[in-house]
Amino acid sequence: MRMYDIIEKKRDKKELIKSEIEFFVNGYCKDEITDYEMSALLMAIYLNGMTKSELTNLTLAMANSSEILDLSDIETNGTFIVDKHSTGGIGDKATLIVLPIVASLGVKVFKMSGKGLGFTGGTADKLGSIVGYDINIPLERAINQVNEIGACLISQSKDLAIADKKIYALRSLTATVESPELIASSIMSKKIASGTKKLLLDVTVGSGAFMKTKEEAKNISNIMIAIGKETGIETKALITDMSEPLGKNVGNAMEIKEVISFLLSDETSIFSEDIADLREVVFNLSAWMIKMAGLGDDIEQNKAKVLEAITSKRAYNKFIELVKAQGGHIYNVYMDWIGMSLDMPVLKDEVKYLKEITAQQDGYIVSIDSKKIGEALVVLGGGRKEKDDVIDHAVGFEFVNEVGDRVQKGDTILKCLYNDKNKFEEAFEYIEQAIYIDNIDKKLADTLKNKPHVLDIIY
Ligand code: URA
Repeated sequence: MRMYDIIEKKRDKKELIKSEIEFFVNGYCKDEITDYEMSALLMAIYLNGMTKSELTNLTLAMANSSEILDLSDIETNGTFIVDKHSTGGIGDKATLIVLPIVASLGVKVFKMSGKGLGFTGGTADKLGSIVGYDINIPLERAINQVNEIGACLISQSKDLAIADKKIYALRSLTATVESPELIASSIMSKKIASGTKKLLLDVTVGSGAFMKTKEEAKNISNIMIAIGKETGIETKALITDMSEPLGKNVGNAMEIKEVISFLLSDETSIFSEDIADLREVVFNLSAWMIKMAGLGDDIEQNKAKVLEAITSKRAYNKFIELVKAQGGHIYNVYMDWIGMSLDMPVLKDEVKYLKEITAQQDGYIVSIDSKKIGEALVVLGGGRKEKDDVIDHAVGFEFVNEVGDRVQKGDTILKCLYNDKNKFEEAFEYIEQAIYIDNIDKKLADTLKNKPHVLDIIY
């Protein structure tokens, strides 16, 4: 077999067979196929797409390129382990809220999360802002932890789906990341390798996501569901909005604070308009995970259980249990506003400077470009340009206003917390470009403000 023939076949829109796909995946892992050959093939795939059979074979070949985890030692007591995966976004702290909620309701969660790269954040980095939290605990300990407290949140093992790691690195250099087939097979290969049998996808759409339109998001969801069917993973997808950042905070430690505050909501504050977007996403993801775990078929009833888990503080206590189990440092503090003392994680949240970013004109906030906000965070040091960059967990943004709000010139729209004045100057350019204010009519502003954040469910 020759790589040249495989590239030519794909270029000419002919279907590759299983042995050809295994040949280039395994050959690339063993360095027998060069980067230029692989780049040409990836571009042919990007331009011509893949058939269902090619997709399944590519996904399985990548999954089988290294070890496949066996989660059978997790005691499920008749329920199902459910994995959740977001295709990425800005301010996306949903995993950190959903996981303790569903674990407190009996769902067993074995969750692996990655670091952020480029403008999107990563759950592993957010957890990295908790002093002492060990995201790299050994597999055996993680499985024991799920048996003991119902959940673990660990980093994606370096040894899983090695082919995907190599191919993804090349895709990011050759303008071939944004291929629905390559994204779908990349995600699903890691899910197969991590032992997932039931998967709830959060497929984000908008400026801060890979998928820019709802149609693209639906298309990629259907591709992943189809791969799931072929490879034994029951997969469902929520399509969620990522045209503006999710929630009020963007930045690792700041997002952990928002997670804590959300999980400490009471019967009134949980319905606050300020957290409407995050609440909608969290409640839907949690309710679907409970259903997939076999713990309740009715989504509305599941949402009622989610509400109870939050307001009773069971979900918060589960979050603290998880942080403690993985070595996170905790302190106890008396909280006046809820009249009780609580355990809190110790955060790496020291910043030197705070700047309020104000409206340059009167009008309504029409859009907040989440990609630009993500890029501004990278400039401040809160995200990575290169995969080995060390990040500053403390920096970030807190939004005072959101899309659809009326503002007057000089009103604070967001607060920026930073440690390096030079970096702030550069980040400010992105922030300025991200916020668009105009004199639209109130009806349109209200529509923008109240737009749904969960756009569809596909299964
Ligand atoms: N996330 C992945 O894991 N892979 C992709 O290709 C894109 C997003």
